[in-house]
Amino acid sequence: MLTRLMMLGPPGAGKGTQAQLLSKKLGIPQISTGDMLRAAKAAGTDLGKEAAGYMSRGELVPDEVVVGIVKERLVEDDTAGGFILDGFPRTLVQAEALAEASVSLDAVLDVVVPEELLVERITGRMSCANCKQVYHRTFNPPEVEGVCDKCGHTEFTTRADDTREVVVSRLEAYRAQTEPLRSYYANQDLLKAVDGVGDVDEVQVRVLSLLEGDG
Ligand code: AP5
Repeated sequence: MLTRLMMLGPPGAGKGTQAQLLSKKLGIPQISTGDMLRAAKAAGTDLGKEAAGYMSRGELVPDEVVVGIVKERLVEDDTAGGFILDGFPRTLVQAEALAEASVSLDAVLDVVVPEELLVERITGRMSCANCKQVYHRTFNPPEVEGVCDKCGHTEFTTRADDTREVVVSRLEAYRAQTEPLRSYYANQDLLKAVDGVGDVDEVQVRVLSLLEGDG
């Protein structure tokens, strides 16, 4: 089984949802730069204050900021058996910094979803206010309405950057700065395209079969 993984794909493709499931199934940590930056913002740290403006405009946070936090995270003990990078790298500079830090990847999962579906997925997203489990109001609701499946909490939050206006900027940033990583990793024979259309479990079956096929 491949365990040093990266999730690539546009905003709303389902990277975080699939990474959460994989993390549980494989017992390896999900390392989401978006989650780390949102936690820093909520805690009011200098990092969070610096990142907040970029995130609210749907722009990428500067490379040196993000590279620093990922490098620090990757030396923690729980990454020894593997990890799932979710939302990092997303520029060529970040990908090169990862390679220069001698962090090798086994596979890059490129979650492919048409643009019109991305907007629907993002604008319907909600997360448990306690454990951060991600849901969608229509496509992926909790089993019992208003109650988190994972922790039983009854409050949910939405992300400040999940508005139609900000999504346009996030998609532009993805096309201009992140999409070139597809050919970067394809050239290294690491890129594995996953059809991200279908329900969450169907996509997870596709992801696992890609990873097991090479294990
Ligand atoms: P980040 O948090 O990484 O957001 P993103 O890349 O825009 O990705 P999303 O979290 O929106 O989408 P996702 O693919 O994880 O989808 P999800 O699984 O939640 O980044 C946010 C910001 O932080 C950036 O704009 C930037 O400013 C900054 N940042 C982060 N990393 C950075 C970096 N490396 N460099 C610079 N800046 C950085 O699913 C979406 C919705 O769809 C959910 O509601 C879910 O329930 C639903 N869903 C998922 N799968 C399915 C399915 N199969 N069927 C139906 N619904 C589904």
